[in-house]
Amino acid sequence: MSRLPVPRPFLKWAGGKTQLADALLERKPVCFNTYHEPFVGSGALFFRLYRENHIRRAILSDINAELIDTYLAIRDHVAEVIRVLSEFPHDKEFYYEVRRKDPWKLRLSERAARMIYLNKTGYNGLYRVNRKGQFNVPFGRYKSPKYLDRDNLWAVSQALQNVEILCAAFDTVIDRAEPGDWVYFDPPYVPVSPTANFTSYYANGFGLQDQERLRDICMKLSKNNVYIMVSNSDTPTVRSLYQSEYFAIDEVLANRAINCNGAKRGKITELVITNYSANGAIQSQLLEQQAPYRIFEQRHLTRACT
Ligand SMILES: C[S@@+](CC[C@H](N)C(=O)[O-])C[C@H]1O[C@@H](n2cnc3c(N)ncnc32)[C@H](O)[C@@H]1O
Repeated sequence: MSRLPVPRPFLKWAGGKTQLADALLERKPVCFNTYHEPFVGSGALFFRLYRENHIRRAILSDINAELIDTYLAIRDHVAEVIRVLSEFPHDKEFYYEVRRKDPWKLRLSERAARMIYLNKTGYNGLYRVNRKGQFNVPFGRYKSPKYLDRDNLWAVSQALQNVEILCAAFDTVIDRAEPGDWVYFDPPYVPVSPTANFTSYYANGFGLQDQERLRDICMKLSKNNVYIMVSNSDTPTVRSLYQSEYFAIDEVLANRAINCNGAKRGKITELVITNYSANGAIQSQLLEQQAPYRIFEQRHLTRACT
């Protein structure tokens, strides 16, 4: 069996973008300075961009503190994380023993090892916490889960060496992004239907007001000549949020769980929103003419097409 290329996501993450990475990559700006990913999760697009040499500088952030600590531990203490993980057996009782530990009383590398172990051996690779913020996923039914993947952990550590990693709310990106940078936003999705499984990634959830705030941030960044890309569900709410001269809305096909128990899978459309033409050929033409390729300056697009 051929090995998957490294580095790749070291966690399974609800809403992870591995399957959508081709479609997202096709729609990246052809030229950008710093890459920002303020809802980084497992970082599927970041690792793909890194593997394909598109990253010069990157700032990754997420509101989940345990997740961010895991990135930091792998970046700065990967040998120690591997050592701790190598002492963990795959065993139900041990799983619950590790789960009971308070992550905030552990050292950074132990906290990261606990996160990776629970994520890879727990049910469905879910990250779910109760109201008190305690991880509450039951033991999974895997025969031999690969929670210790040395090659990938070393490669991830290498990929993160010059990356700034922050535990922060998404809106703080406004203070960091400069003209010419690219921000990819992958927020918790607007639910497809009221009964759809809307995973709570952290205790407070992510509601409509947050989605509106995100759209407003995208507007502000657009005015500052920052390229933005957003992925979200194909729902009337998302379409109306981004219905504006600032944005282009594109449909992409995704393979997703389409009902609450996740048993039924199929192809559904999702939306990719950009404030620039997602067509690489048009972007290149505009760059040659030294014209900006923002979607909201239609005259530039027209000029490029004639
Ligand atoms: C759809 S997931 C991102 C998945 C990611 N693109 C991947 O490939 O794994 C959404 C992420 O947003 C984070 N999040 C939720 N609310 C947030 C907020 N207010 N600010 C920053 N991150 C937030 C969650 O912790 C979760 O990791």
